[in-house]
Amino acid sequence: MADVINELNQSAEAQQSCNCACVSRRAVLRGVAGVAGLAGLSSVSSVFGQDAPEAMRPQPGDFIVSANGTTPLTPADVRLNANPFDAWAMSPDGIVRNGDFDNSLMLLRYEPDTLPEETKARAGEGVLAFNVICTHAGCPVSSELEGPLIKCDCHGSRFDPTKNGEVAHGPARRKLPQLSLTVVDGKLSVASEFDSRIGGDMVGEDDR
Ligand code: FES
Repeated sequence: MADVINELNQSAEAQQSCNCACVSRRAVLRGVAGVAGLAGLSSVSSVFGQDAPEAMRPQPGDFIVSANGTTPLTPADVRLNANPFDAWAMSPDGIVRNGDFDNSLMLLRYEPDTLPEETKARAGEGVLAFNVICTHAGCPVSSELEGPLIKCDCHGSRFDPTKNGEVAHGPARRKLPQLSLTVVDGKLSVASEFDSRIGGDMVGEDDR
């Protein structure tokens, strides 16, 4: 327990130094994740054990659930052309993978035929899934779009969801990690693991 409290203190200090509006997304998701979700900016898998299913990265075959639910989502549950929808992956036997904040997902839904082919191929009937951790310095991105772009309020990076999360404006240099989705029996399901590394490249450095 002392380790958890220590990590909580470190987390609070890191949030204060972040000074970003997007902390609210972190707060919401952490509330859902309970004690484990409150335990740190990066991995809290130690609360569950490193290989615990709650802390594992989303796996192919997992369902997608809302940030506070356990019912597998359908594409229609995600509003079309709307702000990101907070979500987690859930194993087929019902274990929500919310034991590590880094597993946090954001969903966006588009009419499939409006997406470029390369992006459409990773969507589940138009629903795209991205990791919420900005690749610049690890802030959670905003829960509101800026026009068509995902924004990070910490240092101004922008990502284009319709181009599989590519960087539209720096300082981030890497796309947002993305899960490929599919639809099985009407439910959103993970088709493949994150396509790139989760986390910020500048963590621990003076990047302002
Ligand atoms: S952490 Fe997102 S722009 Fe710096």
